[in-house]
Amino acid sequence: MTIIAIVSQKGGSGKTTLSVNLAAAAEASGAVALIIDTDPQATASQWGAWRADRAPEVIDSAPPRIQSKVEVAQRQGATFIVIDTPPHADSAASRAVEVADLVLIPCRPSAFDLAAIKTTVSLVRLFNKPAFVVFTAGPPHAPRMYEDANELVTGFGIECCPIILPDRAGYRHASAAGASVLEYEPEGKAASEITALHMWTIAHVNMSTSALEGV
Ligand SMILES: Nc1ncnc2c1ncn2[C@@H]1O[C@H](COP(=O)(O)OP(=O)(O)OP(=O)(O)O)[C@@H](O)[C@H]1O
Ligand SMILES: [Mg+2]
Repeated sequence: MTIIAIVSQKGGSGKTTLSVNLAAAAEASGAVALIIDTDPQATASQWGAWRADRAPEVIDSAPPRIQSKVEVAQRQGATFIVIDTPPHADSAASRAVEVADLVLIPCRPSAFDLAAIKTTVSLVRLFNKPAFVVFTAGPPHAPRMYEDANELVTGFGIECCPIILPDRAGYRHASAAGASVLEYEPEGKAASEITALHMWTIAHVNMSTSALEGV
């Protein structure tokens, strides 16, 4: 089973958008995906309610219950769990990072947003978990902007994910329809980017696991 925590203290950085679409990409690849929504705003749960019985399932959890919900989900056959977290919530973010195999930190490639990831980076360091910044909602064609952002992030002592999720209207339209971008526009750019991100995630987790087993 793979557990991914989506964490960023910055509000509106794309946590829920990444969570639901990454879980949907996992489900589309044959995994049994589950989203654990730890945000009292319950945005992912709202998305799940709009979908009714369509997978992936969304459940909510108070921070202290995350570990036990993960164990129950594993017994029930979940193979890919994404934990969505609220902004400015140390306890939910900490508990999510604690149980995760990999932490993804969505961040818009703007100066204010980049400066704000420092607190998230400190949190991830505390638990010594593999973590990557994923650039979200920036311009699709601005290589220089991403190079600069990458340099800044590397300076904070954290790596950037090579897959970025630029601004695509499909995310907004899909969410409003209770869909993922894969369902809303299967041939669209957003669908291929989130599929690539899911594949990268799996490859990264497998690589880390085999590296650990080789020690
Ligand atoms: N790659 C993207 N392209 C276009 N719009 C995006 C993208 N990522 C996020 N958005 C939009 O940005 C807004 C904020 O995204 P989202 O709700 O996922 O952020 P969040 O980090 O979960 O916010 P909060 O901190 O309040 O939980 C939403 O309207 C969402 O549709
Ligand atoms: Mg959210």
